[in-house]
Amino acid sequence: MRSHYCGEVNAAHIDETVELCGWVHRRRDHGGVIFIDLRDREGLVQVVYDPDVPDVFATAEQVRSEFVLRIKGRVRRRPEGTENPDMATGEIEVLGKELEILNRADTPPIQMDDDDVSEELRLRYRYIDLRRPLMQERMILRSKVTRALRNFLDDNRFMEIETPMLTKATPEGARDYLVPSRTHQGKFFALPQSPQLFKQLLMMSGMDRYYQIVRCFRDEDLRADRQPEFTQLDMELSFMDEEQIMNLTEAMIRKLFKETLDVDLPDPFPRMSYEEGMRRFGSDRPDLRCPLELVDVADLMDEVEFKVFAGPAKDPEGRVAALRLPRGGELSRKEIDDYTKFVAIYGARGLAYIKVNDVAAGRDGLQSPILKFLPDSAVDGIMQRTGAENGDLIFFGADKATVVNEALGALRVKLGEDRGLMAGDWKPLWVVDFPMFEHADGRWHALHHPFTAPKEADLEKLDSDPGNCLSRAYDMVLNGTEVGGGSIRIFREAVQEKVFGLLGIGEEEAKEKFGFLLDALRFGCPPHGGLAFGLDRLVMLMAGADSIRDVMAFPKTQSAACLLTQAPSEVNPEQLRELGIRLRLPQSDQQTG
Ligand code: AMO
Ligand code: AMP
Repeated sequence: MRSHYCGEVNAAHIDETVELCGWVHRRRDHGGVIFIDLRDREGLVQVVYDPDVPDVFATAEQVRSEFVLRIKGRVRRRPEGTENPDMATGEIEVLGKELEILNRADTPPIQMDDDDVSEELRLRYRYIDLRRPLMQERMILRSKVTRALRNFLDDNRFMEIETPMLTKATPEGARDYLVPSRTHQGKFFALPQSPQLFKQLLMMSGMDRYYQIVRCFRDEDLRADRQPEFTQLDMELSFMDEEQIMNLTEAMIRKLFKETLDVDLPDPFPRMSYEEGMRRFGSDRPDLRCPLELVDVADLMDEVEFKVFAGPAKDPEGRVAALRLPRGGELSRKEIDDYTKFVAIYGARGLAYIKVNDVAAGRDGLQSPILKFLPDSAVDGIMQRTGAENGDLIFFGADKATVVNEALGALRVKLGEDRGLMAGDWKPLWVVDFPMFEHADGRWHALHHPFTAPKEADLEKLDSDPGNCLSRAYDMVLNGTEVGGGSIRIFREAVQEKVFGLLGIGEEEAKEKFGFLLDALRFGCPPHGGLAFGLDRLVMLMAGADSIRDVMAFPKTQSAACLLTQAPSEVNPEQLRELGIRLRLPQSDQQTG
């Protein structure tokens, strides 16, 4: 039906006759001449109709926004002074000779050039929202990204293998989406939280290098970078250690950025231990664009009268940390109050601060509601350790270490953004040396998943000191977002059983849930490891979008619903009967009939 894409017509086509199809982006009537901006996936082109051919002109007059047209015309240079340097096709226009209205459109609920549409409307009419040039660009980028990744993986002899969607629960830490079985009443499939166990089994089958661009399902609290169904680039490799896997996958990401964005990422990516990330940045996914750092001051505080500091300073699970904000003395009272509210979201019970007016003047040069509680030694120590200078502000967090890390870790990034301190566009790194376990609610939890191998040197700590046992896990972090994570896996049955035991998964439960894995470990399992990238998060960062919803064609809302199809929805009683299911809704929600 067409000879070119609208957005690809240019000065090389001058004097050619072209046939184009697309949507009416804009129509303007300029006293006797009609301008139509015709749009397709590749962009816009201006088509001009003058009244010379009266019946074609009459059709052009009927045209409205979002009508679907097929046109034929001659490409010509735009008259001097009417070129549009902002448009790829801005040097030329098409003098329309024919015009066919392929379909009409009601007035669309979303205007193409309105960037301020509510997300609800955008999701309800997603097919129109996706017509917007910005969304088209994002979808094109996403497709380029998956193509570049696939090419790299093919070149490196990976095999793409599909794994089941109707499966058994794998523990990645979220709630499962369940699917009732009709043929086995009372039993349920779980949608995969990841293909973790299947990809490990594929290594046991000798597939050597596996990848899959795969949907994962997790019923968890949603945020800007979390969706109930999302896509992983999932990988697993045999006979490689963590160094080799990190080197290969960071080379893949470097190539991806070079090919799609023409960005040179560092070679190699810096590495940082989990311990260092927590200590300096309060985070296991530090945003290294922000120069601010946490400084420990607990040892200066354990004798002070101020209970808010002294308590956590003495608590082995506590932390007292300072965060120096250069030129923070400029902050108003209200701004400090707002930051105090901000850290409260992360559980902080306050945000103490010291304003540094004049370092040389000692105590007299400082301003702070907590100054009176602090002896000179503590004040001097704080000034020295933070490297405070005149005009700075020093914030403090004191609480359980987890609270201080979350609160000051988030504050650090927020201050970096608010105060224009973010430096450098792209800051990738690997976070390594994670602990195997974390202790919460009186028991051990896997920091990654239960199939992650402990460091060889720490094997005996599984018995003696699980809290200090490090794992062979690694996370790739980009600008403060965890874009990927993985590990070398346990490949010996005895170790796997021990880890299950530590996690409180008894022999019976292990057999029932993961018996197939334990069996497989006995039949010749190669050493193996891998990782999974959050494809949506990667594309979000590459597109400069604020949410992964903006790089997914049909995302769900914060409450995990699809506004377009109105899913989830009720099912009819007949379907439920077939499945052997009776609903137990709260009285007020009960369906009638
Ligand atoms: P993990 O649970 O860390 O590891 O997930 C891998 C990556 O997937 C992305 N991700 C998400 N993206 C969007 N919405 C979500 N709800 C969501 N949850 C996770 C993140 C994360 O880094 N099987 C292991 C990988 C392995 O060990 O090989 C796994 O799934 O970017
Ligand atoms: P208060 O004695 O509770 O009025 O607190 C004095 C100062 O300490 C205020 O600036 C509070 O914001 C701050 N503060 C209180 N609790 C904490 C905490 N856990 N961590 C950091 N600062 C705190």
